Amino acid sequence: MFGKGMFGKSAETDDPRQAAIAADVRAIALSGIDLSLGRGAARVHVLRGISLEVGQGEAVGLVGPSGSGKSTLLMVMAGLERPDSGRIVVEGTDLGGLDEDALARFRGRRIGIVFQAFHLVPTMTALENVALPLELADKPDAHFRAKAELEAVGLGHRLHHYPAQLSGGEQQRVAIARAIAPDPAILVADEPTGNLDEATGRQIVDLLFALKRDRGATLVLVTHDPGLARLCDRTVRLRSGRVEDPVAA
Ligand SMILES: Nc1ncnc2c1ncn2[C@@H]1O[C@H](COP(=O)(O)OP(=O)(O)OP(=O)(O)O)[C@@H](O)[C@H]1O
Ligand SMILES: [Mg+2]
Repeated sequence: MFGKGMFGKSAETDDPRQAAIAADVRAIALSGIDLSLGRGAARVHVLRGISLEVGQGEAVGLVGPSGSGKSTLLMVMAGLERPDSGRIVVEGTDLGGLDEDALARFRGRRIGIVFQAFHLVPTMTALENVALPLELADKPDAHFRAKAELEAVGLGHRLHHYPAQLSGGEQQRVAIARAIAPDPAILVADEPTGNLDEATGRQIVDLLFALKRDRGATLVLVTHDPGLARLCDRTVRLRSGRVEDPVAA
């Protein structure tokens, strides 16, 4: 598991995360988000007037039928997809006011993302994939830390495998280790247990919730798994691009 204190800075008063909590800044505030994707006959009005707030350190489960817009909403929250209209404020920063470079820097510092399709770099080993965001963030001991994160997801024996040499569940765990490694304030994960057996899934869920408990991270988890949804503080249900029931527990 994680070396305690290896990443943890949350006890320090100059931690921006603690300052944000003290100032009661929402981790994520979306208002009036509309987004259409695709061209011509393939054009879909994916998100329709979505307004949603996620508190600092809160775990929100994002649920809803296939095609309801969950992955797209996650991309919008992470600043990877710009909406046609509406406002996205992440930890007090209006993402609409950032150019692409500033947005990429902001994401790199604050947000960990686990994609539904993993998006590992195929030419890099598991270890190199996890070390990459640490190197980009100029963190010391990137490879040492990457190794610890991979051990934490049960992949200490697959450090030098390339993505194509890993099973789906193993790739998923590399993606989770990569997202967790830089100690993000916000972690958004798209069906993080979707490819895992029950025991491995539980291990990953423990790891995600340890981020919340020990490091004060905010979690937004897309899931079809009712067990995982129940562990969240709150569930938000999407249907046809709209928030169906914003206050359901
Ligand atoms: N680039 C695109 N062009 C056209 N339509 C798109 C595009 N991306 C997504 N869509 C459509 O938007 C809808 C929402 O997609 P999204 O991937 O957000 O669904 P989801 O809720 O994550 O579904 P699942 O549970 O199957 O992963 C789908 O009907 C999809 O076909
Ligand atoms: Mg999806």
